[in-house]
Amino acid sequence: MKKYRDIVGDGGSHILDQVGQQMDRLKARMDKIRHKVAIMSGKGGVGKSSITANLAILLSLQGHSVGVLDADINGPSLAKMMGARGQKLKTTEEGVQPALGFLNIPVMSMDLFLPTDETPVIWDAPTQQDSFTWRGSMEVTALREFLSDTDWGNLDFLLLDLPPGTDRLPNIVKLLPDLGGTLIVTIPSEVSQLVVKKSISVAKNILKTPVIGLVENMAGYVCSHCGTLGELFPSGNVKEWVQSLGIPFLGKIPFDSRISASADSGTPFLLEYPDSLTGQAFREIGKKVKEFFKVS
Ligand SMILES: Nc1ncnc2c1ncn2[C@@H]1O[C@H](COP(=O)(O)OP(=O)(O)O)[C@@H](O)[C@H]1O
Ligand SMILES: [Mg+2]
Repeated sequence: MKKYRDIVGDGGSHILDQVGQQMDRLKARMDKIRHKVAIMSGKGGVGKSSITANLAILLSLQGHSVGVLDADINGPSLAKMMGARGQKLKTTEEGVQPALGFLNIPVMSMDLFLPTDETPVIWDAPTQQDSFTWRGSMEVTALREFLSDTDWGNLDFLLLDLPPGTDRLPNIVKLLPDLGGTLIVTIPSEVSQLVVKKSISVAKNILKTPVIGLVENMAGYVCSHCGTLGELFPSGNVKEWVQSLGIPFLGKIPFDSRISASADSGTPFLLEYPDSLTGQAFREIGKKVKEFFKVS
C-alpha cells in the first residue's frame, strides 16, 4: 500500500488551490463582520460557553447584530445554550444557513451535524500515533469550513466559543488574522488560574492578539433564599494578578444556579432575570466589551 509520503506532489487533488479558494471565501464572509471576539480559557468547565451565550443575548438585546460560532468541535454545547438544537441546516446559493437561536441569533455548531445526543465526534486517524496531529488538523479544517461556508451576512459581532487548551487560539488567529479581541475566562481557584495564565501568555505575548480582558466566573454564589453573595472558592486576588500582567479586569460573575437551569430549560437567563446581581454583572462586562470596541 502506498503511504502518503510516496505520493508525488498533491496526488492530483489540487488541495492547495482548494484551501486557497476556501480562505478567499472565508475572508469575503469575515469582511462583512465588524468585530470577531474569541472567548477562551486554558481550562474547561469555567463558563466560556455560558458567557458566550449570555454575552450574545445581551448584545442582541442592546440592538447589535450578533452571531455565535461554537468552535468547540468535540464538546459542542452552544446550540443547546442558545436554544438552537435539533434544527435542520439548509444550504442555499449564499451558503449554509446557520440555525437560529434565542432572539434569532445565528448559531453554528458541530452539534447541529450530529444525529443523536450520544454521537461523539470521532476523528479517524491512519494510526493511533498519528491521532493527535490528525485531530488538530481536522479541527482546523472543520473550523475553516464553518467560517467560510456559513452565511452569516452582515454582523456587528461574531463570538467564537473556543474549546479548552492553550493550543487552540493560534489556529483561530491563523484563520482570522483580524480577530478583534480575546476575552479570557477563569474561576477563582488557583488551579484554574495557573492554566489561565498560560493562555494569557499565548494571547498577549506570543500571538500578540488584542486582549479585551479577563472575566472571573463563579466568583462567590448568590444565595437562592436571600439573594446575598457568599464565598464559593477560596479567592486569591484575581483582579490584582491579572492587572499586574497588564490585562484589564472585566468583572466577576457569581455562581448562580439559575444560569445552568436556564441553559437546560431553554429560557435565556438574561431575559428571565435581567435585574439579578448576575444580570447586572453581565451588563457591566458587556459594557466594557463595547467600550473596548468603541461601540455605543
Ligand atoms: N456563573 C455560573 N453560575 C452557575 N453555573 C454556571 C456558571 N457559569 C457556568 N455554569 C455552569 O457550569 C457548567 C460549565 O459551564 P460551561 O459554560 O459549559 O463551561 P466551558 O464552556 O468553559 O466548559 C455548565 O453546566 C454551566 O451551566
Ligand atoms: Mg464550552
